[in-house]
Amino acid sequence: MKILLTRRLHDFAIKELKKKYDVEIYTGNIPMPKKLLMSKIKDKDGIICYPYDSIDADVINAGTKLKAISAYSVGYDHIDIKTAMSKGIPVGHTPEVLTRATADMTMALMLSLFRRIPECDKLIRNDKWNTIFGPYEFLGTDLYQKTLGIFGMGRIGKAVAKRATGFEMKIIYHSRTRLSIKEEKKIGVKYVSLDNLFRTSDVVSIHSPYTPQTHEIVNLKLLKKMKKTSFLINTARGKIINEKDLAIALKRKIIAGAGLDVFQREPINSKHPIVKMNNVVLTPHSGSATVETRKKMAEIAIKNLILSLSGRKPIYQVKL
Ligand code: DGY
Repeated sequence: MKILLTRRLHDFAIKELKKKYDVEIYTGNIPMPKKLLMSKIKDKDGIICYPYDSIDADVINAGTKLKAISAYSVGYDHIDIKTAMSKGIPVGHTPEVLTRATADMTMALMLSLFRRIPECDKLIRNDKWNTIFGPYEFLGTDLYQKTLGIFGMGRIGKAVAKRATGFEMKIIYHSRTRLSIKEEKKIGVKYVSLDNLFRTSDVVSIHSPYTPQTHEIVNLKLLKKMKKTSFLINTARGKIINEKDLAIALKRKIIAGAGLDVFQREPINSKHPIVKMNNVVLTPHSGSATVETRKKMAEIAIKNLILSLSGRKPIYQVKL
């Protein structure tokens, strides 16, 4: 059987795949151009793809021999699941293993914003450290007793709530599906409307999947409801936020700042208005980027592919 990797994976994973399949690895600039992807997928039985690859109906239909799609990510908004399902092609993904790393990154962005870490780092490097222990210099804000608003209370949202509890924050949330009262009590979170979430939180953190319902749901109207002292964090998907609106909100100081790991277009261009702002902390979609997590993701991605290609159920199969 022949498989396509739209980018290099860990050596151990490639070695494993090569024992079983004829493996083609794309090494050019990412993402792989659509035409090339469509021509390369023609004779392939399986594909391992990344969040920036658009595996749309054209690509899936071009893969006339395609029997398995394996996403090296938990998110699968880049894959046309309906088309894959209609053709009986299982789509595997990598949930659970990246929950902790992504929740950790959320806390890292939160602490960076609240304690102005990138700004302080820059100050020292630019030889601007003149005051030691001054009463007003480099002051951030406590996380203690601040309200964290979690948008999307799935695995990652819950892991963030767990971490924020350790910082003694108050936690409210809004989600497609409300948790049971028992679970809300156990985690220590309170369900509120979307409006309320944005109005009362000191920091709103996005953890929902990207769907037609969440497309640019965070717009100027919603941002205007936030307190001027509040922060926005996104480690989910860039398209959940209307970036033009966010740039306006940041520029006009409608909100205090943002911590962003994901963007509408990745890699984001350094000329993008958001990149020019001082009140933002940016990371390159590296929420799951730890040695341990990315290795586990690779293990699952190849297992999902191998299982699907042998006619068995992948460990984690995307369901509609
Ligand atoms: C995913 O797996 O969908 C994440 O966005 C990767 O960090």
